Order: sequence, then structure tokens, then C-alpha cells
Amino acid sequence: QDPDKAKLYEAYEFTGKLYQHILKNTEQGKQAMEYLRARGLSDKLIDTFGIGYAPSNWDTLAQLLEKRQYALPLMEKGGLLSARQEGQGYFDKFRDRIMFPICDWKGRLIAFGGRAMGDAQPKYLNSPETMLFYKSKSLYNIHLARPQIRKKQQIVLFEGYMDVIKAWEAGVTNGVATMGTSLTEEHTEIIRKQADQVIVSYDGDSAGQNAAYKSIPILEQAGFLVKIAMIPNGQDPDDYITNNGSERFVREIIDGAVPTIKYKLHYFRKNFKMQEDGEKLRYMKQALKILADVPSPIEREHYVKELSSEFHYSFDTTLQDLNEIRLQAEKSN
Ligand code: CTP
Ligand code: MN
Ligand code: MN
Ligand code: MN
Ligand code: MN
Repeated sequence: QDPDKAKLYEAYEFTGKLYQHILKNTEQGKQAMEYLRARGLSDKLIDTFGIGYAPSNWDTLAQLLEKRQYALPLMEKGGLLSARQEGQGYFDKFRDRIMFPICDWKGRLIAFGGRAMGDAQPKYLNSPETMLFYKSKSLYNIHLARPQIRKKQQIVLFEGYMDVIKAWEAGVTNGVATMGTSLTEEHTEIIRKQADQVIVSYDGDSAGQNAAYKSIPILEQAGFLVKIAMIPNGQDPDDYITNNGSERFVREIIDGAVPTIKYKLHYFRKNFKMQEDGEKLRYMKQALKILADVPSPIEREHYVKELSSEFHYSFDTTLQDLNEIRLQAEKSN
């Protein structure tokens, strides 16, 4: 193996332990600990996820790495240190941040996500891409979730660190996060062999809902059975668990995840003012277009029933319209 890589793995392991130690055992870490407590994280959870704290000094880590004879240019290339603009030397990349270690599937630490406690920007500072860390191929918590993912043949996809952690505590131990980046085909390659089913549990705000919508074709093309978990009022999974408790999260949000067709019908609805007849008709047209792509006749019938009864059209007329759209689509192909 590449000796630089080996050295970098070692440095990340050391750094992860250092940040955990500072969080748990030092005066410097006290405020960070209070922050985590206020967000509802127990000691056990903090240990399970190896959460730490990077102190606010400029060079705590840089000095310790130097003392241990790590090559500092390599540490900079590896995303742990930054080079000084003026003069020589290095300073710590992460300062005054809660540190979430990111591991590969074998559990080796390869990157960090660092959250500011106050209003410092950016809210999250993540490690850059390095020889160990490719963002489009990494899933937060894949190492802990993997056994459960394989056992249940199901994976739950979140946006962020806190969502994964709070869901884990709620008993959803097959959850991973794409860390804000949109889902890539490379991500799906990693999980395709591990499970048959995916539940997308992104944030309930419009960014999250758009990302969930976009993930559907990627996941379905990879052969997954996909369901979407919908969270009300723009909350994210962490918010929902904090506001409504673990049990309701599992029962209503995870177990209540809906098939993608149902999600698409819901997703487009917000664009129409249903009180107006013209808008209602435009929505019906859009909805039938979505249904036209459903291969199974039974499934089509199911949704035609739902739609027609909700909007007070007869089943027969609605089905007739749908078949018309299917016929036209066939012709144009
Ligand atoms: N993210 C990031 N950089 C940012 C914002 C977000 O890398 N500036 C990633 C993080 O992995 C974050 C995820 O995208 O966890 C989802 O973003 P967001 O929903 O904004 O954050 P939350 O996870 O909800 O963070 P928190 O609950 O701590 O506010
Ligand atoms: Mn399988
Ligand atoms: Mn979000
Ligand atoms: Mn969020
Ligand atoms: Mn959140």
C-alpha cells in the first residue's frame, strides 16, 4: 500500500481520538458538550459515533502532529491542516467545531464533518476530497449500518449527520447520509449489493423534497424498490424526532414511507391551486401523465381509483383519459 495513504489513515485515527478526548475530558470541550446535550445526545451516542471537538486554538493539532513526526505537507494535502498564507508553517483546518468522524465501510476514519456551534459560516465544514475521501462515493455511517442493511435488505437514506444519529437512537440502525450532496450513481453502486429496498428520508423543506424527487430515477434504475418518507412542516428527521419522539418517527415516518408514484403525485400538488377548477384539471392531467408510466395495470387502477374519487370524477372517465395518454405516448415512441 501507498505509504502516504497509510500515514494519513494513522493521522486521522490519532486526530479522531484527540478530538474525542478534548470533548469528553477537558475544560475546552465543556461548551461543546453542553451543545450536544442540548441537542439531545447521550454519552453513549457520542461514543458510538465517535463525536469530538476541535478546539478554537490555531494549532493544537498541528503541534501534536509535528511532535509525532508526521510530515506536515502531507497532513495539509490530507485535509487536516492548512498552510499559512504568510510565512511558513501550518495551522489546524478545523477550529471550534463539533467533529463528526466519517468512516469507510471498514470503519477507518477518512474525513470529518465539522459543525459550528454558533452562527459561524459555513454551518458545516467538511474535509476536502483527498486520497482517502471521495465525497460522491462516501456515505456517512456505512460502517455501523452495514450489518443491519444486509440483514433487513433495506437502507434508509438521510441528508445529514444528526439525522442518522437521532434515527439510530430511535432504532433505525440501517441509516446512512449522503451529507448534503445529491445522491450519485456511485453511491448507489456501493449499496446495491447490500440491500433491495431504499427508504429516502430527506428533509421536509423544499431543498430536501427536490433532492428526494431527483433520487428516485437514480435508485430505480439501479434496481431498488424505493419508498419516500415524508416529513411535515419542513422539519428534518432530527427535528421530527425531537418534536414528536422516536416511536412516532418510526411508526409514522419510516413505516409510513410511500411508494414513489404516490410521492410524485403529492410532489406536484403544491404547484396547483386546487380550489380553482382549471387548476384542478391541469393537476389531473399532470397526475395522469405520471400514472401513464406505471407498468403494472393493477397499480394504475389503484391510483386511478384514488384520484377519481378524491376529485369527484368517475372512475371510467378517468381511466379512459389515462388510456388516451398511454396510447399517444406509445405512438410518439
Ligand atoms: N452540509 C454541508 N455543508 C453545509 C451544509 C450542509 O456539508 N454548509 C451537509 C451536512 O452533512 C449536513 C447535511 O448537508 O448534515 C444536511 O444539511 P442541513 O439539512 O442544512 O443540515 P442538518 O444536517 O439539518 O444540520 P443541523 O441539524 O446540525 O442544523
Ligand atoms: Mn439481495
Ligand atoms: Mn437540509
Ligand atoms: Mn437538515
Ligand atoms: Mn437538522
